[in-house]
Amino acid sequence: VESAFTRLTPVQESLFLTLYLRALDHRSPDPILRDALSDEVARKIGYDFGRLKVVPSQVLDLALRTKRLDELVQEFVAGHPDAVVLDLGCGLDPRAIRCDLPPGTDWFDLDFPEVLRIRERYLPLASHQVGADLTGPDWLDGIPADRPAMVVADGLMAFLTGERFRAMARTLTGHFPSGEFAFNAYTPFDLWAANYSGTFRSLHTKTAGEGFTDPHVPEGWGARLTLAEELLLTRAPEIAKYPRPLRDLTRLCAHSTWISRHGNRIVRYRF
Ligand SMILES: C[S@@+](CC[C@H](N)C(=O)[O-])C[C@H]1O[C@@H](n2cnc3c(N)ncnc32)[C@H](O)[C@@H]1O
Repeated sequence: VESAFTRLTPVQESLFLTLYLRALDHRSPDPILRDALSDEVARKIGYDFGRLKVVPSQVLDLALRTKRLDELVQEFVAGHPDAVVLDLGCGLDPRAIRCDLPPGTDWFDLDFPEVLRIRERYLPLASHQVGADLTGPDWLDGIPADRPAMVVADGLMAFLTGERFRAMARTLTGHFPSGEFAFNAYTPFDLWAANYSGTFRSLHTKTAGEGFTDPHVPEGWGARLTLAEELLLTRAPEIAKYPRPLRDLTRLCAHSTWISRHGNRIVRYRF
């Protein structure tokens, strides 16, 4: 088992971080995401999670943003029963299972082939799997191009250079007639600062992303994206579950849009 992991690149290995954060949320007394399956996978996978230097606020923030992305998917498919859903850089996230989609929809989980091999071993098959490098040209080939698409990318932006993330967005919106693209967005400052966090240091990698502060920036990527919503999660009702003093600090930050953009944030675009 261990050898399968040591062959992963640091970027691929980051999937253990988000898996572990979901597991820790589930083990907490009052979970936000409640993902029992991630907890189960984390317990049996045999990865040394202790080496990832996680701090409690990461558990809360990750659980909250993942829950919100789940809700965006559920809202989209409720209005588009023939939708395709894409989870870009799915890692070991059982999002398709959490979202429990209606039968007319098709779900595609995309990540590197090495990652999908681990996924197949530890997660029940609940979706189509596409093993590909998302910075390549042809990863959308097998995915229906005539249906509305809901595309989510949870924790992917930090690992792709700005140019590659923009190119990926153009490839996406060139493929589908219409849809939505939602992801957690970082500011340039967040991405710079993340390199000094225990987490990125323990993964022995640096962030590659460029980031943006103004959520309208992606409208200029040439990808037909129109901002539908910016979710500043410092303002989410679930902040009530954060322990003091983090709750008070988060609520203080919520007063400022500028500060909140540098925190836990999801952006959603229509195309
Ligand atoms: C932080 S993990 C997040 C995984 C998952 N979305 C989650 O929330 O648990 C980032 C994931 O993006 C994938 N990834 C990064 N760059 C990629 C690329 N160029 N092509 C495909 N997958 C990529 C990694 O392999 C990894 O699984």
